[in-house]
Amino acid sequence: MKAVEIKPDIYWVGAIDWAIRDFHGYITQNGTTYNNYLIKDRDITLLDTVKHDFHHITIDNIKDVVDPSEIVNVVINHIEPDHVSSIESIMSLCPKATIYISERGKKGLDRYFDTSQWKFKVVKNGEMLNTGKYNLLFLETPMLHWPDSMVTYVKEAKLLISQDAFGQHIATTSRFDDEFIACASQFELEDAVIDYYANILVPFGQLIKNKIAEIVKLGLEIDMIAPDHGVIWRKNPEKIIQTYLDLAGGKCNLSVSIIYDTMWHSTEQMTAPIMQGIKDEGVDCKVIKLRATPMSVAVKEFWKARGCLIGTPTINNVMFPSVAEFLYHLGGLRPKNRIAGAFGSFGWGGGGVKEVYEMLKKMGLEVFEPGMQVQYKPSREDKEKCYDFGREFAKKVKEYHSENNK
Ligand code: FEO
Repeated sequence: MKAVEIKPDIYWVGAIDWAIRDFHGYITQNGTTYNNYLIKDRDITLLDTVKHDFHHITIDNIKDVVDPSEIVNVVINHIEPDHVSSIESIMSLCPKATIYISERGKKGLDRYFDTSQWKFKVVKNGEMLNTGKYNLLFLETPMLHWPDSMVTYVKEAKLLISQDAFGQHIATTSRFDDEFIACASQFELEDAVIDYYANILVPFGQLIKNKIAEIVKLGLEIDMIAPDHGVIWRKNPEKIIQTYLDLAGGKCNLSVSIIYDTMWHSTEQMTAPIMQGIKDEGVDCKVIKLRATPMSVAVKEFWKARGCLIGTPTINNVMFPSVAEFLYHLGGLRPKNRIAGAFGSFGWGGGGVKEVYEMLKKMGLEVFEPGMQVQYKPSREDKEKCYDFGREFAKKVKEYHSENNK
């Protein structure tokens, strides 16, 4: 897709990756985009690059607007390879350009590339760069998403170029939120935001709240937010900021996700009465089988719901491997403000459900005990107990939700 002017003399010059389905283990069923931006000012300035496989696309887009040899400044907001791995190709076209980057960004770039021939200006939080009619303010956002990360605010354009923050993994020809909603749907966009947040940003909720508070304190006027993935927020940028504050603050749906796996369908047969009990208590419920669902989708569904029940059979006195993998991954995301419990079947010694509870407690989640276990296969009586278990869990979820959805 050719360059798009998003503000006077400021262009999107990125690339659409329609084919990617595995983004370092995160399943991107809708592809993604690598967004970077070009300011055609007295001092021509490029902000970020794209994934290396797409370097020729961004270079063609840049050439549609300026002669790349005239680029004076290259701002690197984030050094993860999806944004920086075209830097050698870019710098070969404008070898005299100065790279503006955070201190930790410079150290990381030195590890990825031979930077010895490039000029650098290491910038700190609050430093500015004048390009002519535009002033660029650099704000460091460490750990959002990596230690090096920063965002760039273009003052006269009221434009926040936000790297990973506020992004979504969607491959689309729509460059703006309103265009996307017109041709797809509000739900699809919101789901993509939650998917991205749940799989990438959950560990950094407090940092997100602090950084947004800092931006508010600075009194920056923002009428457009341009992330490095997905659509640009021009219709209502306040809404995506509020969405991030809500997600970081623990807001979610009054609903339950049942996330399970099964060997001989016994644990699976427990899910239907449990789901019915939850539903009859007036709480929405979604059932997710782990081996039928990408990990990143299961993580998203966990994050969307206030409550989660983990179902596992016992194998060799421990939980089922796919359940262990899910919980191990979830633990790394350090989720908060969620209540969880466990259920499952066993043959003789048991151990799977106990192990799930150990992991849930280690994560610091609110835990609903005792769990529900059946031997070999759920009988009619067991299924009635499963129904009651679901119903009791839903009652707890409602209580916990009313205390935590503020
Ligand atoms: Fe899109 Fe942290 O990279």
